[in-house]
Amino acid sequence: MNNKFLILMSLVLCVCLNGFAQNINFNDSWRFFNDKAEGAEKPQFDDSKWRSLDLPHDWAIEGPFDIKYNARSGGLPFHGTGWYRKTFKTPEGAKGKVIRLEFEGAMYDAHVWVNGTFVGNRPYGYIGFEFDISKHLKYDGSDNVVSVRLEPKDLSSRWYPGAGIYRSVWLKVDAPVHVAQWGTFITTPTVSNAKAVVQNETTINNKSNKDAAIEVTQEYFSPEGKSVATVSEKLTVKANASAVSGLWCNIENPAKWDLDTPNLYNAVTTVKQDGKVVDTYKTRFGIRTIHYDKDGFYLNGRKVRFNGVCLHHDNGALGTATYRRADQRKLQIMKDMGVNAIRTSHNMPSRELLELCDELGLMVQDEAFDVWKMEKVENGYNVFFEDWAERDIKDMVLRDRNHASVVMWSIGNEIIEQKDKKNGWKTAKMLNDYVKELDLTRPTTAGFNHYDAPYKHNMAQQVDIAGVNYKPTKYGELRENYPDMPLYGSETSSCTSSRGVYHFPVEKYKIADDNQVTSYDIVGPPWAYPPDIEFHFQKEFEFSMGEFIWTGFDYLGEPTPYGGRDNSTNGYWNDNWPSRSSYFGAVDLCGFPKDRFFLYQSQWTTKPMVHLLPHWNWKGMEGKTIPVYCYTNCDEAELFVNGKSMGKKVKGKDLSTVLVDFLRYEPKTFDSPYRLSWDVPYQAGSIKVVAYKDGKAILEEQINTAGAPAKISLSVDRESIDASGEDLAYVTVRVEDKDGNLCPNADNLVNFKVKGVGSLVAVDNGNAASVESFQAPYRKAFNGMALAVLKSTKDVGTIQITATGKGLKSAKVVVTTK
Ligand code: GAL
Repeated sequence: MNNKFLILMSLVLCVCLNGFAQNINFNDSWRFFNDKAEGAEKPQFDDSKWRSLDLPHDWAIEGPFDIKYNARSGGLPFHGTGWYRKTFKTPEGAKGKVIRLEFEGAMYDAHVWVNGTFVGNRPYGYIGFEFDISKHLKYDGSDNVVSVRLEPKDLSSRWYPGAGIYRSVWLKVDAPVHVAQWGTFITTPTVSNAKAVVQNETTINNKSNKDAAIEVTQEYFSPEGKSVATVSEKLTVKANASAVSGLWCNIENPAKWDLDTPNLYNAVTTVKQDGKVVDTYKTRFGIRTIHYDKDGFYLNGRKVRFNGVCLHHDNGALGTATYRRADQRKLQIMKDMGVNAIRTSHNMPSRELLELCDELGLMVQDEAFDVWKMEKVENGYNVFFEDWAERDIKDMVLRDRNHASVVMWSIGNEIIEQKDKKNGWKTAKMLNDYVKELDLTRPTTAGFNHYDAPYKHNMAQQVDIAGVNYKPTKYGELRENYPDMPLYGSETSSCTSSRGVYHFPVEKYKIADDNQVTSYDIVGPPWAYPPDIEFHFQKEFEFSMGEFIWTGFDYLGEPTPYGGRDNSTNGYWNDNWPSRSSYFGAVDLCGFPKDRFFLYQSQWTTKPMVHLLPHWNWKGMEGKTIPVYCYTNCDEAELFVNGKSMGKKVKGKDLSTVLVDFLRYEPKTFDSPYRLSWDVPYQAGSIKVVAYKDGKAILEEQINTAGAPAKISLSVDRESIDASGEDLAYVTVRVEDKDGNLCPNADNLVNFKVKGVGSLVAVDNGNAASVESFQAPYRKAFNGMALAVLKSTKDVGTIQITATGKGLKSAKVVVTTK
């Protein structure tokens, strides 16, 4: 980073500390009380027995799991009433300033009081909000109390929504004249290699009774931190009003934001009143172009197809509380699979997730809603839509429109109004117009599933790009009927599997009785289909902009295909307990790749890779046929069983009609041009695949029959983490035989002991039907693996984790915190 930028940023910080503009992190030292009975009406003022905790916090992830909490939303106690209180002193010198309390997200239906006075409420748990609390504070040095009541309701979500103040809180102290919340909007109307025109519209509030004569300066810093342009203007902001400064400038030879080069610029806005700086505000943005036509989506003029994933907002065993590192790891794992785009199904994501997508070069489809007025679950957002939809969707755009990663706004997913011939399109138009009022630089979209009702009812036509959920066989027909409408698979596949589980024989849609799903990647609910089918149609219809698979990661709740309607429980999905989280992910809830991860990698990446399945521990099946699959992006592969060749297979040779037949006739077996397969009579020993590119053997992978579990092995994703009090280290636990082979059926109980400057915050094993606590100091292995997550404190030092298990050699790893 260049010196000038550093000096300027330290100046910004000094000025903040001098008192005119402070952004104080308000996450520490809250008190919390959870009333599962629901419906407490008033803030409760004796909080001496309440728990002390720091935010972000998700109370429901603490468990216990219970079928009465509804398996569909994770079987965790997310509903009831939660109270949070924080006692604090008004910052010195704040009298006469504007003091705002900002919540980045609180689940659900937040009501906020300051010193006993109600200051406001915000129902939707996924959007940030702030209240001006200046007039409710005490300025005499005595304590203030903020109280927050949250009331997530049963039957309010189709998945696990979490519960609590699960994103950060800030106390913002500003001069009466200041940049508004989410107050800048930076666009780049013209971009070439030689020059970018950068426009910055900044909204400035004047919360005083006098008109303010101000000067606004926008200074731009390159990705290396070099000052590259400065412009200013003078304007007047009327008393108790706002004004918009609109300044243009050129940036020469811009370093563009792109997937492989996610270059980010910074704009520093300075507001001076009477010659004195009264506010500074930093905005990070990227210089890039996007456009689309009926034949595709283009980034910086180059056609790109979405190799996308849908992601829910939870971070598995950590619940929904936002940890930057958890989001970062999630996105990195997706990138390793070849992903270039994320759909934030079906709500606004955390600020951190978007910042990380900016930094990692991932495109984002930012989605607002899963439901409008017509309900999917009775206490869903439908209850609030009439009163809040405009505010919520506009705030999404205001909050997120400076992110280079955001390339599309989605106004909804599988909205029930698709069936409403008369009015559905009107609501779609209304929401689309709200978005366009605030951003004309990005296309709008929605995910439609009731083919072809939304087209016939003029609803799909209301957005720029109509997304198609689960209908790859209709892409051709759609093009014929609506030749000018761009399209893509907004939700695809919904294939399900459990890591390391294989059921025989391999059969389409076979649901087993062990609450697990075979990893041969052909099983799903009735609307689902294997990834290969989408590959096939994406290849056939090149005009499709690509796909967003359901889903990248497993998530809490929606344990399809286990679970179904059960009338005794009010029509909600409580059968097949203890299935309590999704099987849809290409990786499991721990972030461990399932076989499907490699199927996508074989299609979406070019660095040579090869993957073999299943495991090779089939005692009792000697002589019986086991299908062996290989996923590779190489041209051909040869399989060896105990050193003997089973023959070479060439990728793409199998008939593609098999795929279409698969959909049509429901055959029992599955051959796909995207996989190589051999039928192998089982004998213990080893299977090995050798992959060839251009006739040369370049990669191999071998799986051995493992012996008895003998030892634990631990490995950590990063040996050094930040002593920030919120950084995480992910420790992978494997149960291995004496030679280091993974024991693919091992379910040994592993106990953890943690010492030093950190704590064990979560454990998991990726088993979607486990009701063990995510917060216990032990975990059973699931198919040989488990996960332990460590969190740093603010102290520098080391964290040591030891894992022990009966009859197993123990293991230890040490993480340094800096
Ligand atoms: C879709 C829906 C998703 C998820 C998925 C499971 O219809 O949009 O939220 O429920 O099905 O296959």
